[in-house]
Amino acid sequence: MRISVLGTGYLGATHAAALASCGHEVLGIDADAARVEQLRLGVAPFHEPRLDELLARGVRSGALCFDTDYGRAARFADVHFLCVGTPQRPGSHAADLSAMWSAVHRLAPLLERGCLVVGKSTVPVGTASQVRDALRDNAPAGRSVELAWNPEFLREGHAVEDSLGPDRLVFGVASDPAYETLCAVYAPILASGVPAVRTDLPTAELAKVSANVMLAARISLVNLLAEVCEVTDADVGDLIEILGYDGRIGNRFLTPGIGFGGGCLPKDTRAFVARAEELGLGDAAAVLREVDVLNMRQRARTVDLAVSLLGGRARDEEVAVLGAAFKAGSDDVRDSPALDVACTLAGRGARVRVYDPKAGGNARRAAPGLTVVDTVEDACRGAALTLVLTDWAEFRSIDPVSLADVVRRPVVLDGRLSLDPDKWRAAGWDFHGLGRRVG
Ligand code: UGA
Repeated sequence: MRISVLGTGYLGATHAAALASCGHEVLGIDADAARVEQLRLGVAPFHEPRLDELLARGVRSGALCFDTDYGRAARFADVHFLCVGTPQRPGSHAADLSAMWSAVHRLAPLLERGCLVVGKSTVPVGTASQVRDALRDNAPAGRSVELAWNPEFLREGHAVEDSLGPDRLVFGVASDPAYETLCAVYAPILASGVPAVRTDLPTAELAKVSANVMLAARISLVNLLAEVCEVTDADVGDLIEILGYDGRIGNRFLTPGIGFGGGCLPKDTRAFVARAEELGLGDAAAVLREVDVLNMRQRARTVDLAVSLLGGRARDEEVAVLGAAFKAGSDDVRDSPALDVACTLAGRGARVRVYDPKAGGNARRAAPGLTVVDTVEDACRGAALTLVLTDWAEFRSIDPVSLADVVRRPVVLDGRLSLDPDKWRAAGWDFHGLGRRVG
């Protein structure tokens, strides 16, 4: 099939490469010419395991091309995927749909023949029907342009595996032909046994934000449990192991710490509440406001604990922050709790040095005032406090014995339940972890 993918961010670039690997001819479109140049070389504009390999293979075979020209997309493809970003609107909790509307209004007047447009971007429920009407009103092909909604659940750091082997596919459609087209697009994935749920447009739109608010709520709940552990001398590490064995609860996505961040969970939780308010369901959505408040509280708690471990005053203290990305496996620092905590401590006068295995460059750009260094040792040299704020495997494998010789005071705060307290204490460290029993 000939497919266009509009928007080549984390979602679109991965989706385009995955579709090419499924045997389709794919044209990725992005307004950013520099990004398009990079993708044409088969190189991802961000860190994502296995994506470079998949992109390079697609580009080399000729199945995967990139361009800035919507006209080429309209002429080339019979299926168009909308994959543009829908970030939080500045000064509001609602989603900013301007990039999506811009893509729709650029594409629609160019659609001369019948085709299927498929929304993948995360949008407030009710948006899809407006997109469908805008396409039909503005496309020369009119009602023979159809809209489907096919949300994407990929996680950064696992984007390729999640695209090629998702837990499920969701096909929000209004007709049999649209459903059959989506089945053909995803034929190799369906053949591998991945379940597909056929549904309507609003349910498909809701599926995505619903999954994210369920996940966000789960993390805030486990962070609440961690806080209760701290004041009762209980241990959240043991507690989540106990909870995880309950098949109804399960042990995935149950790690407490400095809270969730990134380009998705925080903004989707807020956008869900904003949409619920528009729908007259603001009271019912109050629980999700609390999920957000509890989440932001983790960052403030981490700063408070850090300051108290520095003796009540951060000014002029040397502080090592290990981690800047919002989670391991990614170089993304959007709404990163780690970077937020680092900036707050620096704002209080601490001399903060940050190290991250992949996100150093993005951290420098996002927080130019911070000192970002290239190794764990450089961050920790002379430090009075070491904070571990992103769950990178590299930090779990640090040798606390040799790191103790690098710092000025061996005091560590584990904000991600990453480190083995016994091992660090045995190496002479004063170990503190959110929700951890004080040893
Ligand atoms: C999230 C969803 O997991 C994806 O299914 C979804 O497709 C994506 O958003 C999206 O909307 O595009 P992602 O933002 O890549 O994916 O990251 P997650 O793995 O969900 O982690 C989000 C945050 O929660 C991170 O800051 C992570 O450190 C934190 N987290 C995660 C915890 O604090 N504890 C956990 O147990 C798991």
